[in-house]
Amino acid sequence: MQEYMRKLEDVESRIGAIEQDRARDEIETIGKELLGKGGAFQDLMKGLKDLPAEQRREVGRRVNELRSRAETAIRSRLGELRAALGEDVSDLDYTLPGVRPAPGKLHLLTQTTNRILGVFRDMGFHVQEGPDIEDEWHNFEALRLHADHPARDTQDSFYLAEDRLLKTHTSPMQIRYMENHRPPIQMVAPGYCFRRDPFTSRHSPAFFQIEALMVDKGITFAHLKGVLIEFVRGFFGRERKVRFRPDFFPFVEPGCELAIDCSLCGGEGCRLCSQSGWIEILGAGMVHPGVLENCDIDPKIYTGFAFGMGVERPALIRYGIDDIRHFYENDFRFLEQF
Ligand code: PHE
Repeated sequence: MQEYMRKLEDVESRIGAIEQDRARDEIETIGKELLGKGGAFQDLMKGLKDLPAEQRREVGRRVNELRSRAETAIRSRLGELRAALGEDVSDLDYTLPGVRPAPGKLHLLTQTTNRILGVFRDMGFHVQEGPDIEDEWHNFEALRLHADHPARDTQDSFYLAEDRLLKTHTSPMQIRYMENHRPPIQMVAPGYCFRRDPFTSRHSPAFFQIEALMVDKGITFAHLKGVLIEFVRGFFGRERKVRFRPDFFPFVEPGCELAIDCSLCGGEGCRLCSQSGWIEILGAGMVHPGVLENCDIDPKIYTGFAFGMGVERPALIRYGIDDIRHFYENDFRFLEQF
């Protein structure tokens, strides 16, 4: 016990020495002797267990106190000495690179939508958004999708109430726009669409479309082709090939679909293009005279074209993504790449 107390006193006086004016290397040496491996404090800690039980606690506390006193003394004295030499004494290392906060960015689908809209804006199209909840007149009837029309069944819709449904395509924006504008009309309308489709690698029950409508005197199918070819070149690149084929939609006559050659396989046939070498990207056609009449536009004076395209598919093609579900799962590892 006495022996232990002597050691303790020795340690205390050496701490006192540090606290006094001492040279730097002396402080470093004493520091090592006290706090280093096999140093005085380790020795004291080891010796604690040999002390009489009733003293152990009290002495243990003393040892701990002395140790923090020693640490503080060494740190502050060395700091003072280094400061006197003009050294940087703070614990901050200003030369370490900072932590850069990751700025947010637009979702890939929003980026794609903006790029597509940009191509049409450059061609003079006006961008107009519409409601997500539609009535049957705008979503179906005015577009000649009558109650008995098979398309009305196949477009299995999300009804919210009688005569209220989530829009199944962006074509109702043709009607809304023509209700409020007279020709010349040149507009594009982006928006979400909703259909009761299963969620798979190629289909989603909620997806994004962009509708386009151009109505004026003397608009022909040649204008439609010209605008679409310009769009494909502007968005996918000059080297893309396009393919027009007849198709049917009740609100256009004649109607067609547009496909581009598959960029993944170069037209050879692969999984992305279902081995066909072509990828359909939109439906189009000349606005049906009955649709113009439904909006009080005289089809004997005016003609027009319309088309509607999904945004997901062009994004898949352009960025080489193999599954549409990546767009909706909000996995940072995916989102951060774009
Ligand atoms: N609305 C059609 C669809 O969703 C696409 C389309 C728009 C076709 C305009 C022709 C003209 O499939």
